[in-house]
Amino acid sequence: MQSFVLIPTTGAAAEELSASIWEQPGVLGIEELTADGGAFPIAGHDFVRFDARQEYENWLRTEQFRSGDLLLKVYLAAGAKLPAQFKIIGSGTVEPQDYLAAMREQHHGRVIGKFWVGPPWEMPPEDKVPVLIEPGMAFGLGDHPTTQMCLKLLAGVPTAKRVLDFGAGSGVLAIAAAKQFSQSQLCLTEIDAQCRSNIEHNFSLNNLPVPPILESVPAGAFDLVLSNVYLEILKVLAPSIQTERWIVSGLLGEEQLTEFQHAIETRFDCRQMIHRDDNGRWFALELCRRQKTKAI
Ligand SMILES: C[S@@+](CC[C@H](N)C(=O)[O-])C[C@H]1O[C@@H](n2cnc3c(N)ncnc32)[C@H](O)[C@@H]1O
Repeated sequence: MQSFVLIPTTGAAAEELSASIWEQPGVLGIEELTADGGAFPIAGHDFVRFDARQEYENWLRTEQFRSGDLLLKVYLAAGAKLPAQFKIIGSGTVEPQDYLAAMREQHHGRVIGKFWVGPPWEMPPEDKVPVLIEPGMAFGLGDHPTTQMCLKLLAGVPTAKRVLDFGAGSGVLAIAAAKQFSQSQLCLTEIDAQCRSNIEHNFSLNNLPVPPILESVPAGAFDLVLSNVYLEILKVLAPSIQTERWIVSGLLGEEQLTEFQHAIETRFDCRQMIHRDDNGRWFALELCRRQKTKAI
């Protein structure tokens, strides 16, 4: 029989404690609950649903998360026990679940223009460029409109030698770029260590050499930068990123679009803009570097 234990913690300490619990043998999943037991499911398998991740990110921003007391509900395989260093204040049993099988049932590949993005256990259609992605904790399974819009804009880029995927997540955009531009020199940035190992795995699944995965943008100029990240990060990139072409996604709503356009207006022209109205009103842009006009 699988079991669970309850471990008290605080918002500030939860991440470090969870990381040390994950290192223990037999840990199947961890949920964070409010101290009164209010459920907030964040077990890894749930992130397959984008809305779960979104809810989780909203939850992380709440004052209650940062300052309040929390409970970790740790699911354990049959017979597994946590060592005494963890302060357990409650326990119980649960019906056994095969999380992997449940996730496989939920998650399917999809056609996005010329690409097919899907898990390694499905067969891609023969006429599409396959981008195999192992579902994990990383964002970028191809199910979110922001990723799909990036892929759509990428498909129209004729050539690019030096390519940066900023905020690579699962590596989905970089893998698509590697397949589209076979001779390109790729570079990725990603600050999340779990994503970085997912990226390495996904490049191997696609029989591609693993490119450098850095935590910040390397020096030099790019032909193409792909970035599907939040507005605040895009605004930091806007004054400094060196690229001929920049595909930007992650802008939610007209206000964010206008704010971003203002941030880039002296350096980039907009070649095309697309939007999607599902799961919010998302905008993606293809920008090209503004040519300097000669003073007469
Ligand atoms: C919305 S996901 C995009 C994933 C993937 N590129 C896609 O389009 O589906 C954004 C990713 O950016 C990463 N990220 C956030 N801030 C970053 C930063 N300053 N530098 C590098 N990566 C960052 C996050 O960890 C996350 O994996």
